[in-house]
Amino acid sequence: MIGIDIEEIDRFNSWSDKEFLRIMSLKELEYAKSRKNPPEHLCGFYCVREALVKALNKNDIVFNKIETDHEKSGKPYLVENEYLKEIMKICGVKQIEISISHSKNYAVALVLARK
Ligand SMILES: CC(C)(COP(=O)(O)OP(=O)(O)OC[C@H]1O[C@@H](n2cnc3c(N)ncnc32)[C@H](O)[C@@H]1OP(=O)(O)O)[C@@H](O)C(=O)NCCC(=O)NCCS
Repeated sequence: MIGIDIEEIDRFNSWSDKEFLRIMSLKELEYAKSRKNPPEHLCGFYCVREALVKALNKNDIVFNKIETDHEKSGKPYLVENEYLKEIMKICGVKQIEISISHSKNYAVALVLARK
């Protein structure tokens, strides 16, 4: 199962921390803030969630219970917390892989879910 999403980074330029924390984790916010251009990473993390909805064909996913983290190499993955484990069980999914990219104006994310 596959899902993809693309968003304009500009859309996130004016968001407050409080608004970001309604849809993502503190760790993601801190990661983005540690980078040169935080909005591109925040936009990417948002795209991951929309792409996950598409991959799983499940539109009631609670965005702030999902968390993206990174391997030492920088490769992103979804943290398999209790919430994600439950969603994966409901959808019959054993493994989820994600990929993120950004350009000047857009971020894109791809989610691949395997049964
Ligand atoms: C990892 C790499 C491909 C990222 O590409 P980029 O064009 O700089 O950046 P993009 O916007 O497309 O991608 C950034 C995203 O890639 C992901 N990423 C970073 N390192 C990654 C890795 N090792 N594997 C998979 N994904 C990775 C991250 O999700 C990152 O976004 P995030 O930090 O917001 O989560 C790039 O930095 C790299 O290492 N390229 C290899 C360079 C190389 O070998 N050059 C030799 C030329 S001779």
